[in-house]
Amino acid sequence: MTIRACVTGSPIAHSRSPLLHGYWLQHYGIDGEYGREEVPPAEAAAFYRSLAARGYVGCNVTLPNKEIAFSVLDEADDSAAALGAANTLWLADGRLHGANTDGYGFLANLDAGAPGWDSRREVAVVLGAGGASRAVVHALAGRGFTRIVLANRTLSRAEAVAAPYGRKVQPLPLGDVSKVLGAADVLVNCTSLGMKGSEPLDFDLSPVPAEAVVTDIVYVPLLTPFLKAAQARGLRTVDGLGMLLHQGVPGFERWFGVRPEVTVGLRERVVADLSA
Ligand code: ATR
Repeated sequence: MTIRACVTGSPIAHSRSPLLHGYWLQHYGIDGEYGREEVPPAEAAAFYRSLAARGYVGCNVTLPNKEIAFSVLDEADDSAAALGAANTLWLADGRLHGANTDGYGFLANLDAGAPGWDSRREVAVVLGAGGASRAVVHALAGRGFTRIVLANRTLSRAEAVAAPYGRKVQPLPLGDVSKVLGAADVLVNCTSLGMKGSEPLDFDLSPVPAEAVVTDIVYVPLLTPFLKAAQARGLRTVDGLGMLLHQGVPGFERWFGVRPEVTVGLRERVVADLSA
């Protein structure tokens, strides 16, 4: 019988998840389908509770439903529990399980794109304090970074994200970030700056140590002005597309029973779609 999963959220028309999972289904010759469902927040709790009745073994959850999905789970993995948000749901033994794989995707992207990026595990500098930033901070703390500086335009948002971690995560006004760049092992843009159609993230990267790795969660364009500036400075960079590709791996494995690979061919397929 055809195994069915989907991505859910609102709006959902532009999600790349059907392309990603469809590529893997075809590549591994699996009798499966991965579609998209427009699910407004008001209908979300009922939708996730009725996955089985709708013929789904599970689904992905995107904006703005990740917190609602978390609230209806029977079982949450550590990341979902820590973030209060789930992006991957699956049914097992009649119970609804959920995970948050954004942090996994972030780490796997760096592991693949810049081997050894975490060899010191000392100072990470994260720019931005939205939902993506929370997942990244949690992942970096889990990887053992001892000091995570969280710089944001609105300091109170950085303080709110940092609060559960005590002294390990230090909030900072974005304008003061130059003071900490000289200590960074890894520098992450989690703001929306640099995204196609928005202004670039623009500051002087000259204090960043030569061994540091710079990454961006923005992937349209692939080479953001921030990554371009880091490359001009001679730093290793990893673009944000791999985070999207890798975050899909755990869900695909749960639903379809094969752990899929993030290959150059997959990346090229998604890049072609982004530039179409
Ligand atoms: P997401 O959940 O996708 O991370 P978000 O919650 O909208 O998105 O967060 C966007 C991030 O980009 C925030 O850190 C935001 O800063 P504020 O918390 O101060 O709003 C940051 N950001 C957006 N536009 C910005 C700008 N023009 N200058 C500096 N930071 C900006």
